[in-house]
Amino acid sequence: MTLFKPTEVQKLALRLVKGGAKHILLFGGSRSGKTTVLVMVMVFRAIRFAGSRHLICRLRAKDARSSVLRETLLPALMNTVGSNGFRYLTHESMITLFNGSEIWIGGLGDREQADKILGHEYNTIYFNEISQLSYLAVTTAYSRLAMRTPGCRNLFLYDCNPGSPLHWAHTIFIRKKQFLTGAALIKPELYTSMMLNPADNKEHLADDYISDVLDAMPEKQKARFRDGLWVKADGVIYEQFDEAMILNSADMPAEYDRIAAGQDFGLNITNVKIGWVGECIYVIADYGAFNMTTKSFNDELTARGWFAIEPDGFGFPVYCDPAGGERLQEITGGVKANNSVESGIDFINAKIERGQFYVAAGCTGILSEVWDYCRDEGGEIIKVNDHFLDALRYAIFSDIQRGVIAQ
Ligand SMILES: Nc1ncnc2c1ncn2[C@@H]1O[C@H](COP(=O)(O)OP(=O)(O)O)[C@@H](O)[C@H]1O
Ligand SMILES: [Mg+2]
Repeated sequence: MTLFKPTEVQKLALRLVKGGAKHILLFGGSRSGKTTVLVMVMVFRAIRFAGSRHLICRLRAKDARSSVLRETLLPALMNTVGSNGFRYLTHESMITLFNGSEIWIGGLGDREQADKILGHEYNTIYFNEISQLSYLAVTTAYSRLAMRTPGCRNLFLYDCNPGSPLHWAHTIFIRKKQFLTGAALIKPELYTSMMLNPADNKEHLADDYISDVLDAMPEKQKARFRDGLWVKADGVIYEQFDEAMILNSADMPAEYDRIAAGQDFGLNITNVKIGWVGECIYVIADYGAFNMTTKSFNDELTARGWFAIEPDGFGFPVYCDPAGGERLQEITGGVKANNSVESGIDFINAKIERGQFYVAAGCTGILSEVWDYCRDEGGEIIKVNDHFLDALRYAIFSDIQRGVIAQ
C-alpha cells in the first residue's frame, strides 16, 4: 500500500480545501495533478465522515468512468482502504465504503444519468472538467448539496483546463462576479481558486511530456494546456467576435425592424431572441434551463414577458430545432428552423466581420459559449458548448433562408 504523497502545489490545494470557502476550483494545464488531489479529498472525506455521500460528475458518464473512476478513484481507494475496504459493482454508478459512506460518479450530459445522480443529497459535489459543463447544469446540481452529516462542512469542488475568458467559471472564480447579472459576488469569500500546472507535477510525468508534447503545441493550446491561461481556444468558430460588440442595455436599439427567436431542445434547453435594424443583428436576450420540459420552459418564458415584444402586433417567429419534432407545438410562435449548420455559421461570421453583429451584455448564455465553440483538428464542430449558439443560428439564419430578410 503506497500512501498518497501530494506535490508541493497539491499541498497548497489541500490547504485551500480546508479554508473557509465553499466553492473551490483548481484550474490549469493538463496533467498537473488537479483531478488526483480532488479525488483524494473526496476519499478522505468519505473515510472521515461515516455514512456521508459524495458525487463526482462530468459531462459524459463514459469519461467520468474512464478518466476519473478507473484511472484515479479506484487506485486511490485501493491505496487507502484496500480492496476489502470498498465495494464497486461495475454496472453501478456508486462505490460503497466500509463505513457506509458512498461515492457516486456519473455524467450530467444525459437525462437518465442526470436524474439518477441528482436524485440524492450529497456532502461533496465535485464537477470534473467544467469547461465542458454549462452553468445551468452545474447550478441545477447545487440544490443537491444538502446532506447533513455531523461535523462535515459541505463543499463544491471543481476542476478544469481553462476555457475562454468569457466562460462562466472565469466570471465567477477569477473576476468574482455573479454570472447572470455581472454584479459583484455577494459572498466572495466563499469562492476560491488556484492554478496548478504540469511543471508543478513534473515528478509524475514522463520526462519528455512538457518538452515534446506541450511545448510543441500551437500557441493558444500551449497557453491553456501548459500555462493554464484563460484564452480563446484554437479553432474558435466565431473567432472575430470581439468584446467591443457587447453592448450595455442603454446602447441597444429602442426599436427593431424585425424580431425573431431560436429554440434549441434537449437537456440544456435554450431560447435566444434577436432583433434586426437594417443590416445589423442585435442579440437581445437569451434564456436557458437544465432538465426542464418544453412546456414548463415555454411557461417560464411567457411569465418573463419574453413574447411581449411585438413590433407589428403579430408576435414573432420562434425557429425551433427541427430535431425537436412535435415539441415545437409547445413553443409560442414555434416554426421549424433551418438547420444548415455551415451556411448559418458562415452568415453569422460575415456579419461579425462587417461589424453588423452585437450582443446585449445580459446574454450570458451566448457570451459564455461564443469563444469556446470550436472545431477539432479535423475541422468537425465539437458539440459541447453549443446550446445557446445553436438557438442563435436558428433565429438568424431561418429568416435568411425564408427570404424574409434580404441578404
Ligand atoms: N501526488 C501524486 N502522486 C502520484 N502521482 C500523481 C500525483 N498527482 C498526480 N499524479 C499523476 O500525475 C498524472 C496527472 O494527474 P491528474 O490528476 O490526472 O492531472 P490533471 O487532472 O491536472 O490533468 C496522473 O498520472 C496522476 O496519477
Ligand atoms: Mg483532470
